[in-house]
Amino acid sequence: MKLTIFGAGYVGLVTGACLAEVGHDVLVCDVDPARVDALKAGRIPIFEPGLEPLVRRNLAAGRLGFTLSAADAVAHSDLVMIAVGTPPAENGDADLGHVLAVGEAIATHMTRPVTVVTKSTVPVGTGDLVEARMRAVLSARGGAEWGDDAVSVVSNPEFLKEGAAVGDFMKPDRIIVGAASERATALMRTLYQPFNRNHDRLMVMDRRSAELTKYAANAMLATKISFMNEMAGLADRLGADIEAVRLGIGADPRIGYHFIYPGAGFGGSCFPKDVRALRRSGEVTGYEMPLVAAVEAVNDRQKHVMFEKLATALGGAEAIRGRTIAVWGLAFKPNTDDMREAPSLRLIDAVLAAGGTVRAYDPAAGTATRALYGERADLVITFDAQEALDGADALCLVTEWQEFRVPDFGAMETRMAGRIIIDGRNLYDPDDLAARGWRYSAIGRPQRVPAAG
Ligand SMILES: NC(=O)c1ccc[n+]([C@@H]2O[C@H](COP(=O)([O-])OP(=O)(O)OC[C@H]3O[C@@H](n4cnc5c(N)ncnc54)[C@H](O)[C@@H]3O)[C@@H](O)[C@H]2O)c1
Repeated sequence: MKLTIFGAGYVGLVTGACLAEVGHDVLVCDVDPARVDALKAGRIPIFEPGLEPLVRRNLAAGRLGFTLSAADAVAHSDLVMIAVGTPPAENGDADLGHVLAVGEAIATHMTRPVTVVTKSTVPVGTGDLVEARMRAVLSARGGAEWGDDAVSVVSNPEFLKEGAAVGDFMKPDRIIVGAASERATALMRTLYQPFNRNHDRLMVMDRRSAELTKYAANAMLATKISFMNEMAGLADRLGADIEAVRLGIGADPRIGYHFIYPGAGFGGSCFPKDVRALRRSGEVTGYEMPLVAAVEAVNDRQKHVMFEKLATALGGAEAIRGRTIAVWGLAFKPNTDDMREAPSLRLIDAVLAAGGTVRAYDPAAGTATRALYGERADLVITFDAQEALDGADALCLVTEWQEFRVPDFGAMETRMAGRIIIDGRNLYDPDDLAARGWRYSAIGRPQRVPAAG
């Protein structure tokens, strides 16, 4: 099948590469010239495991192409996906500017009826809005000669996870399709048939329900995280160990072990903005959503916990002035270089504001972090984990990359000035670290001070 995708970010690029891989003929359009140039040359502008070989292979096979031209993109096919960003507006609403701009571009250039598939995460009712905008542009062009069939807008929200996006797309848990017509549903079945062989993963529903399903899924996951973070805060104060509690509740199959890890707060390009946008949907419709609001408030508080623990370990926030703090892990989660709303940013900002120097390391997000902060003497980005420790009074572990799981504590001692670890991901064994002479503070776990002698 021929198809077009607008947006060559995490979602658009992965979608395009995976659909090309199964044999479709895909043209991806983006407005960023540097991005399009890089992609045409087979260079991937984001860090996503497994994506580069997929893009290169399909470019070479002629099944995947990239363009800056909206006209060429629309001419390529009559199935057009929208996978552009929906960043948060000032008031928390999802900013639909990019989505609507794509809708207008399609309506401006189309020369035959088109099916538009919205992959971007958009509030309920956006499908109606895109359709109305497109029809308005069409009629301004001199009348929609194709009548009601001119535009059909389908909601097909994306559930891939950054860091595991290719695998998620290739083996989806479910494919949600919100469509009004049999024709559009049949088209989606054909498109996704290669991913649907083992059992039928396609769930067809009305468009509004499909749009809401995406927000409900992300809000549910964010709720699990905030719930565990709130429990961890209480465990901290009561002297209980949240890791024991986690195992204790996870054993109940109604709860399960997935997604109940306490940590430094959730970040990324999806959960924070989607929770906010869902709360705004409630506000706009006059329906209070205290649970969703609390998920956001708990997360906001949680993002400050690492700094509080660091300050406590060093003897107060004032004691951070002039100290060197090592940070391991900058990206909002492992296996990505995405820094959007990353908890590390809150920690770094607080340490810098307190007069400390940060030495930070991340296997993928060093360059992205440098771009955010620019060159400054009090923020050293290293490209080696050990180097970040040089002269550090404390180490804060923010993102749980594999390479941090079993570090050489002996080697760390020789490079650091102090023996303090603030572990935002509960990776280490508190008793083991205390026995090795470290002061160790994690999330919701009894704090350990070095064993005497
Ligand atoms: N990142 C994820 O893990 C994820 C997962 C599921 C859903 N989503 C949703 O998918 C959407 C896209 O997310 P993303 O992370 O891929 O965004 P992104 O910021 O990585 O990429 C968006 C791309 O769209 C391009 N763009 C903007 N306006 C355009 C236009 N008019 N025409 C063509 N291209 C245009 C940008 O240049 C950029 O390359 C969002 O709504 C997001 O909430 C994201």
